[in-house]
Amino acid sequence: MPPAAEQLNAYEQDAALRERAARVLPGGMYGHQSAARLPEGFPQFFARGEGSHIWDVDGNEYIDYMCSYGPIVLGHRHPTVERAVAAQSAEGDCFNAPTERIVELAELMTCLIGHGDWAWFAKNGSDATRFALQLARAHTGRNTALRGERAYHGWGSTWMGGALGMTPSDTDFQLTYTYNDLATVRVAADEAGDDLAAIVVSAVEYDENGKWTAPDQAFVQGVRDVCDATGAVLVLDDVRAGFRLDLGGSWASYGVEPDVSAYCKAIANGYPLAAVVARREFEDAAGQFFATGSYWFSGVAMAASIATITTLQETDGVAQIRRAGTLLREGLDAQAQSHGVAIQQSGPVQVPSLRFLEDDPANLQLPRAMTFTSEAAKRGVYLHPTHNWFLSTAHSDEDIERTLAVTDVAFAQVKDAFGSD
Ligand SMILES: Cc1ncc(COP(=O)(O)O)c(C=O)c1O
Repeated sequence: MPPAAEQLNAYEQDAALRERAARVLPGGMYGHQSAARLPEGFPQFFARGEGSHIWDVDGNEYIDYMCSYGPIVLGHRHPTVERAVAAQSAEGDCFNAPTERIVELAELMTCLIGHGDWAWFAKNGSDATRFALQLARAHTGRNTALRGERAYHGWGSTWMGGALGMTPSDTDFQLTYTYNDLATVRVAADEAGDDLAAIVVSAVEYDENGKWTAPDQAFVQGVRDVCDATGAVLVLDDVRAGFRLDLGGSWASYGVEPDVSAYCKAIANGYPLAAVVARREFEDAAGQFFATGSYWFSGVAMAASIATITTLQETDGVAQIRRAGTLLREGLDAQAQSHGVAIQQSGPVQVPSLRFLEDDPANLQLPRAMTFTSEAAKRGVYLHPTHNWFLSTAHSDEDIERTLAVTDVAFAQVKDAFGSD
């Protein structure tokens, strides 16, 4: 178990590895998993995971509220998934063509997801969103896509034109709208005119300041109607929330089906896999352009995915995650109130976000979030100061109780450092 609330972790092995890494990895570590962006108390290197717990290279144990930034939906090394992985590994993983797992998995996903008549697989969420956009363009013979002004759909030139090392023209055929503001969708759709290929929508919007916005029914129905009226393809980016909110797709509860959905993160409990599912009418276009990857068809991740999705189905995993998330949210709210520290929690409880100031476009709350998560990490609870968190079916009542013992101390530290709001 993680140390009791008053004990603090030590990080000698981590420091030594960081020194070695500084010589051989860009910046010592690159990308969003670089601990350089995180406050004191966050290790850079991990050694192992089991259920809802992870251990860093110094042997410090943490209750894991990032779940590897989403993929771990059943807990680390879930026995059913590991058995499926071992069985597939014993036969082989990577061949000249896929194993029969690809058919089984496509059958499973298309059974669950209303608009899914066929499925396509790759490795990262960015592969899936990129394929979905290309599919929409190939199908319609048009170019322009609408996207949320704050939406993240992946790295690479498809979505990040103008970023360092990319040409601005990469995203020339994209117009933006404001999430949940149908009028802005209609304006952008009018501007695109008869070149409108796709409206790309995040299942839930997460902005750069860490605030979630759930789509309202009118927005969801409205983007569907605009697509129906214009012949544009409705692409749902369900990479971040998919299979945590609803196994039928994160918009299933709205009664509105997109045309194409992109998945990744939670579909294979940590094994590398992404998927696109779509309606039958897009199948021809999918076969007409080139898209491939060296490991896209390997069997182990697909076996892991079948085991993951089946386990979520058989155990009502979404309800389990929701229950743990609700306990955490309620506990944090009560605790913050008792400390006199203002917080704002947003998003579905399965992928929660906690901020310290309301109406804070300049993100002035960041130092509070840094203090809070640093104090928690040092005491064995791995939260994140700027990214939303992820829960899994492995988070137990005991985990939440222990977490709250630690966050009680962390809230007290925030209050000491910044006072009450
Ligand atoms: C909504 C959304 N779309 C796409 C992506 C890209 O996925 P990946 O990092 O696996 O390429 C992410 C990653 O966080 C995401 O949250």
